[in-house]
Amino acid sequence: MGKVIAIANQKGGVGKTTTAINLAASLAALEKKVLIIDADPQANTTSGLNFPPDNDEKRTLYEVLIGEREIEDTLVETEMPGLHMIPSHINLVGAEIELLETEGRESILKQALARISDNYDFIIIDCSPSLGLITVNSLTAADSVMIPVQPEFFALEGLGKLLQTIRLVQGGPNQELTIEGFVVTMFDGRTKIHTQVVAQLRDHFKDMVFNTLIQRNIRLSEAPSHGKPILLYDVMCNGAQNYLNLAKEVLERNSLQ
Ligand SMILES: Nc1ncnc2c1ncn2[C@@H]1O[C@H](COP(=O)(O)OP(=O)(O)O)[C@@H](O)[C@H]1O
Ligand SMILES: [Mg+2]
Repeated sequence: MGKVIAIANQKGGVGKTTTAINLAASLAALEKKVLIIDADPQANTTSGLNFPPDNDEKRTLYEVLIGEREIEDTLVETEMPGLHMIPSHINLVGAEIELLETEGRESILKQALARISDNYDFIIIDCSPSLGLITVNSLTAADSVMIPVQPEFFALEGLGKLLQTIRLVQGGPNQELTIEGFVVTMFDGRTKIHTQVVAQLRDHFKDMVFNTLIQRNIRLSEAPSHGKPILLYDVMCNGAQNYLNLAKEVLERNSLQ
C-alpha cells in the first residue's frame, strides 16, 4: 500500500500546489512510484503538469467522486517518468453539493484509492483551500497531512482552523490520520520576519517542522507555465534542490532510505 499524503492549508497561495507537484516529481526522481491527485477545482496541478484542465474527456477526480468513472480510467502519465496523475476539472466544485445526500460521502476517495494504492509508493493529494467535502475526502483517504506554511506574520494564526479540521477528521472518518510535517515555503533568509516565523514554528511544533526550507525561487513560479515540474525545467536551481531535499527528508522520516 502506498503512503497517502494530503498537502493541505486552507490559506490560498501558500505553496500547496508547488509543493505537491515538486515533492511528487522529486519522489519519482528518487525512483519511487508516485501518483499525484489534483483535488482542487482550480486545476493548477493539472495544468502545471501539462494536461489541459478544460478538456471534455470526463476522466477526472470529479467523475470518480460522483461514481461515473472507475479510478483506473482516470490515471494519466506525466512527462516525469514514474509520476502518474489524476487530473481535476472546474466541475469538481459541483461535487461538494452533488454528494451531500450520498451515504459514506467522506470516504469515496478512500474506497477508490484502495483499488490502486498497491501500484504506488506514494500518493500525493493537492487539496483546495476550502475545508469542504472534497478536502475532507482527501483527509479521510490520507495517512498523513503535509502543511505548507508561508513565513508571514499571520501564518500561525491560520493554522488553528486547519488543525481543528484535522482533529475533526481524526475524531470521525479517519482516526489514523497523522501530521507528516510543516514545510516552510517561499523562504527568504534576508527577511527578518521569515526567520522569526520559522523560529516560532520550530518552537511550537518542534521536529514536526521539516529541516528543509523551500526558498523563494522565481524558477519555481515559472515552471508550471511550461507544464513542467522544476526538475524538468531547471534541475540546477535552488528550488529543484530544495524539493529534492524535502523528498529525501520524507523518505528518511518514513524509514524508506
Ligand atoms: N518557493 C517559491 N518561490 C517562488 N514562488 C513560489 C514558490 N512557491 C510557490 N510560488 C508561487 O506562489 C504562488 C502560489 O503558490 P501555489 O503553489 O499555487 O499555492 P497554493 O496551491 O497554496 O494556492 C504561485 O504563483 C507559485 O508559482
Ligand atoms: Mg493550489
